[in-house]
Amino acid sequence: MIPGRCAILGPMRVLAFAASTRAGSVNLTLAKLVVRVAERSGSSVDFADYADFAVPVYGGDVEAADGIPPGAYAFADRVRAADAFMIVSPEYNASMPGHLKNLIDWVSRIKPQPLWGTHALLASASPRLTGGNRGLWALRVPLEHLGTRVFPEMFSLSAADEAFTESGELISAKYDKRLTSSVTDFLDLVAAVRGHGRPSVG
Ligand SMILES: Cc1cc2nc3c(=O)[nH]c(=O)nc-3n(C[C@H](O)[C@H](O)[C@H](O)COP(=O)(O)O)c2cc1C
Repeated sequence: MIPGRCAILGPMRVLAFAASTRAGSVNLTLAKLVVRVAERSGSSVDFADYADFAVPVYGGDVEAADGIPPGAYAFADRVRAADAFMIVSPEYNASMPGHLKNLIDWVSRIKPQPLWGTHALLASASPRLTGGNRGLWALRVPLEHLGTRVFPEMFSLSAADEAFTESGELISAKYDKRLTSSVTDFLDLVAAVRGHGRPSVG
């Protein structure tokens, strides 16, 4: 059987997005590659544009006056429709970008809280040497607090501005192998937990 696929339940559904709207985003390039790996493994991917989750800065008075914004409900709906989600996020000042934490804060106000019991894979890309990995450790905290089972392995790509071919593949075969195993190991685990059949090996 193909990993991530089950004869009874069909393909696994995975939400994926890059937490950057910047033209030329290295995280968007990496997210597109993550999506291709997941699709090759038999998953059905909902690849979201981060702009779909646009929300104002959270404030109690904003919520009281205007309610929870559509961008937060869009995120919640797409997480609920998926078996798992994958975030590829930049690192800002050794943490996650403020806009991503702000989105999580809004989503946490929805009842029932949509992140509880979900599964997530985190990845990052940065032109710098740390590859954005510190930001992923920060991102784990609110996600795990809200009940997301964050996959222990995280993929962080350093020198990301020089890491891709023109067609968006990784130049390094070693990194490509590592990315592929991170994504497929994650999907195999989610397939097993979500009852998509025994994940296949080899
Ligand atoms: C406010 C700000 C803070 C940043 N802090 C870090 C940092 O702590 N570590 C790092 O590796 N890169 C940092 N960067 C550089 C980003 O990794 C780089 O701009 C990256 O290209 C952003 O991701 P994107 O290309 O997907 O938009 C920072 C960038 C900005 C704008």
